[in-house]
Amino acid sequence: MITAKQAVPDAERLLADAVGAREAVFTTCGSSISIHTAMLTVTGPGKKILIDRNVHKSVVASLVLAGARPVWLRPRWDHERQIAHPATARDVEAALGRDPDVSAVLIITPTEYGTGADVRGIADICHARGLPLMVDEAWGAHFPFHPGMPTAAVRAGADLVVQSLHKADGGLCQASVILLGGDLVDPVDLRLRLDLITTTSPSALMFGSIDGFRHRMVHQGRQLLDDALQRANGLRARLSKTAGLTVLDESIIGQDGVAEWDPLKLSVDVSALGITGYQAKDWLQEQRRLTAQLGDAHRVVCSLTYSDDDEAIERLAEALETLAAEPPQADRPAPRIPALEDLNLEQAITPREAYFAGTEQVADPVGRISAEMISPYPPGVPAILPGERFNAAVVDYLRAGLASGMTLPDASDPSLKTFRVVRAEQPANLATNAIDTGSEVGSFRHSAGSGEGA
Ligand SMILES: Cc1ncc(COP(=O)(O)O)c(C=O)c1O
Repeated sequence: MITAKQAVPDAERLLADAVGAREAVFTTCGSSISIHTAMLTVTGPGKKILIDRNVHKSVVASLVLAGARPVWLRPRWDHERQIAHPATARDVEAALGRDPDVSAVLIITPTEYGTGADVRGIADICHARGLPLMVDEAWGAHFPFHPGMPTAAVRAGADLVVQSLHKADGGLCQASVILLGGDLVDPVDLRLRLDLITTTSPSALMFGSIDGFRHRMVHQGRQLLDDALQRANGLRARLSKTAGLTVLDESIIGQDGVAEWDPLKLSVDVSALGITGYQAKDWLQEQRRLTAQLGDAHRVVCSLTYSDDDEAIERLAEALETLAAEPPQADRPAPRIPALEDLNLEQAITPREAYFAGTEQVADPVGRISAEMISPYPPGVPAILPGERFNAAVVDYLRAGLASGMTLPDASDPSLKTFRVVRAEQPANLATNAIDTGSEVGSFRHSAGSGEGA
């Protein structure tokens, strides 16, 4: 008889073999807990970690838990489309050159818009320095099962890869995996960190859904993804001919450092219709009961999956064509997007220090250090996070965004009349983390071997 205790390691082994990982670890509290686990494994108190600033809020939470010191890797700003793409391998190399005592690197790829990083190039740079590379690949658990998808991070040399099974794939909500590649990360450490923070009563249903996804992909993945690609390409071609809609396509590869592109992300710019993506997303929901993955100032993004059949794709095509033919009156102001570089904020103290500092709510936070993260959702990338200093651009951006329909679920004051900041007088020890205000990445001034735990 196979016991539950044996079934999970067996299923993890089967997934690891199927995707080319050294090990797979199943988790049941979403990629958030997988990211906390992976971050607590590769970093710790006082250690520096180079992190793409375009990360999900769970990475920031991990920094608070671990007490690590972020060195921010600025994303590539795409000024034409006003979105961020992943940093390039050269950006990573330059950042590691500036901060040689970084002990690990974390990137997110692909982004919520489907643009991807050169994971192989970045892994080579990390490994030449003996540094583990962690990749948040929350949207890409199916990538290993079809050559038309972006390169799977674990096959491109990443040491730790986190994937959500409930986003673009067939797992139950909260099903997630951590994949280990290479030999820079100790799998025992990883499991001990997971044991520290996860439930002692994991859901067998969720584990079963991960195994079911693996089974389906191994046996039918190629065909299912072939079909999904064909439908996605057909839909894109159809919408590209629709007046008023601008559809992102693979021509984005090579622009602004974009190395890969996820063809199952449908990104449609609706600005020419005189409405925002926020309004278009609401219109799809209210008028057609279709839930787009995200709406922003300009576009809606839909995550197409191998489970969306012809009928589902037709419904979406018809809805977007109707929206374009008979757009609603604009019902909200378009948000003012500041010069994107103005959103690169100074990290004044560590996220952990700010999070545990004395705090106060203030109406004018400009110049003050944030004690909270405020993350427009989706995608949940904090516009400001604990320890960063507010500037006028970020305050305007958030307040204007809220007025336009931006969802900000984690703000301490949902009306944004006030913001939570570190109290003016702080214990002396907080002043010890001098800031490299001149640095373009706004990272901490480093001294080799410095830090609480070093
Ligand atoms: C890129 C990325 N990473 C991590 C997460 C966290 O995943 P989960 O919701 O499974 O905890 C999300 C969720 O939106 C995400 O988009």
